[in-house]
Amino acid sequence: MIQKYVFGSPIETDAVVEDIPVSGEKLPFFELTGDNGFLYQLAEKDIVYGLGEQVRGINKRGWKYVSCNSDNPHHQEDTVSLYGAHNFLLISGEELFGVFFDYPGSMSFDIGFTRRDTMKVLTSDFNLYVYIITGENEKEIVKQFRRIIGQSYIAPKWAFGYGQSRWGYKSADEIRTVAEEYRKRNIPIDSIYLDIDYMEHYKDFTVNEETFPEIEKFCAEMKAMGIHLVPIIDAGVKIEKGYSVYEEGVRNNYFCKDENGNDFTGAVWPGRVHFPDFLDPEVRKWFGEKYSILLEKGFDGFWNDMNEPAIFYSEKRLASVMERINELSKENMGTDGFFEFTGLVNGISNNTGDYDCFFHKVDGKMLPHSKVHNLYGYNMTKAAGEAFKKLSPEKRILMFSRSSYIGAHRYGGIWQGDNKSWWSHLLMNLQMMPSLNMTGFLYTGADTGGFGSDTTEDLMLRWLQLSVFLPLFRNHSAQGTRPQELYRFENCEDCKRMIEIRYGLIPYLYSEYRKAILRDEMMYRPLAFDFREDEDARSVEDQLLLGNELMIAPVYKQNATGRYVYLPEEMMLVRMRSPEDFETETVEPGHHYIRAELNELVFFIRKDKAIPFGTAAPDTARLDTSSLRFIGYPEAGYELCEEEGTSVLHMFEEHK
Ligand code: NOJ
Repeated sequence: MIQKYVFGSPIETDAVVEDIPVSGEKLPFFELTGDNGFLYQLAEKDIVYGLGEQVRGINKRGWKYVSCNSDNPHHQEDTVSLYGAHNFLLISGEELFGVFFDYPGSMSFDIGFTRRDTMKVLTSDFNLYVYIITGENEKEIVKQFRRIIGQSYIAPKWAFGYGQSRWGYKSADEIRTVAEEYRKRNIPIDSIYLDIDYMEHYKDFTVNEETFPEIEKFCAEMKAMGIHLVPIIDAGVKIEKGYSVYEEGVRNNYFCKDENGNDFTGAVWPGRVHFPDFLDPEVRKWFGEKYSILLEKGFDGFWNDMNEPAIFYSEKRLASVMERINELSKENMGTDGFFEFTGLVNGISNNTGDYDCFFHKVDGKMLPHSKVHNLYGYNMTKAAGEAFKKLSPEKRILMFSRSSYIGAHRYGGIWQGDNKSWWSHLLMNLQMMPSLNMTGFLYTGADTGGFGSDTTEDLMLRWLQLSVFLPLFRNHSAQGTRPQELYRFENCEDCKRMIEIRYGLIPYLYSEYRKAILRDEMMYRPLAFDFREDEDARSVEDQLLLGNELMIAPVYKQNATGRYVYLPEEMMLVRMRSPEDFETETVEPGHHYIRAELNELVFFIRKDKAIPFGTAAPDTARLDTSSLRFIGYPEAGYELCEEEGTSVLHMFEEHK
């Protein structure tokens, strides 16, 4: 059952697409706090799931979180905000219910942080919708929630292939070398990403003709090699006379305004920029249509970036900081002066104070950005998604974004933002999957190997052993870090075999992915979702159920040659070194230490289940799906959900 409650005058976010009448009853479960908040009494054993893209574990209890989309490439355990705002929680314990706080401004969740037995949810003002969802079990509650927020975006099958990316590929020649290195070594690959350097001075929808000459030909050359090029699109539009996107935006009042009605100026990669007002449908239409410039050149996938929006500095703040620093520099800077100076400098970027200094046009009214902050990236993705429906009705276009709000899942996927080459971020990648699936984000994954900091070969291998199971499988890293294309590593063959296994898994993964979308289900679930009564399963934080057949339990610690795994039921352990080289064994329920060498992919097939498994292929276009094998329990069958024009389900019979 779903109940909708209204407090004050909420801003419409379009997160929920189903018409639900407002309930006249009193809000159940929560007490109103009188300071714009809601209070819930947590029982000793309650688990709190949810919040989509957030730090910490699968159980969110014991920390505080703030939904305020943030560009934070240095996030760690004590961070409170990441790139998305997904205000859905599922409380499982004494009571069982889901709750969605549909609120586009910044809001906080103290989930047993101040007091272990109390959850306090606070909004900045009290204008919001609250949805309460009750049901038989966790899966059913999520299913109801997913139904009201609308069907998730379906990525093309090629987007399940392996992708190579790096911020710092400066020219077509460099990209060509990457492609050749992969092909030369027969490491399967489907895509290479173009980061900001493909553009002319970081101007959206332009291509640098000197470094990327004859881009149409280059796209075609890569396509002939089986490789899709995926360019980045940034939110900020460079201020430059003669640049058509800028000129049109100014002429038509498409940019966010400052308090005086002038176009608001911030700065990002291109220097000074204006930010399109994506909340205005006319602006979305205009910006969305710009993607056709690149579609026509042969690109068929994009990633939207810096759309929290990230602001290196706002013109106004920079000026006032400079002025103050000037004054300080005339003094003999003591402790106070020096700390004021560093505080001022460190506070320039992504300063939330700037969110009150620019405005959006919403239903004819000007609203400060702070009121709708978490909707910005969502609406940039929506601009693209709405345009693709018209520009490319027959062909799926890859789209994923950095920033998001619930609702964006209907138009694209997301990646988990700028992580680090840290073992803890490998675990966090796994832990975010269920909460993202709850809120509709199915096409997702993190930068494999880690974006910031130097990776190591063992971290890369272990990360590959998680990412082979995730929809978005992209190796991406920041400039200045140790290069991490797979052929850079001493034991490149081991990496290659993991990618080959991925291609063997794609028929299964894409099928489970489509099923999860078409049926509003979660592709990745905590163990307790399927084993509700099992106390041990309820506390597992580092294993996931995948689809209906698998359990994954990757190694995420350096120098470990295995790990403890909990099996809530008998399962078949698969130990795989390549698509052809593997063995299976049946493992009893319970806690086990499972050995896993660096070159082995270890995973589990659930009792009486089996998965279809293909062979390696250079890319998804060359995957031979006619010769699928079956791995798992001998009597099991599998329902293969393939893309055949529309969403037709095919039964797949075992090949014995
Ligand atoms: C920030 C993005 O998160 C990252 O992936 C990208 O490489 C840099 N921007 C540069 O475009």
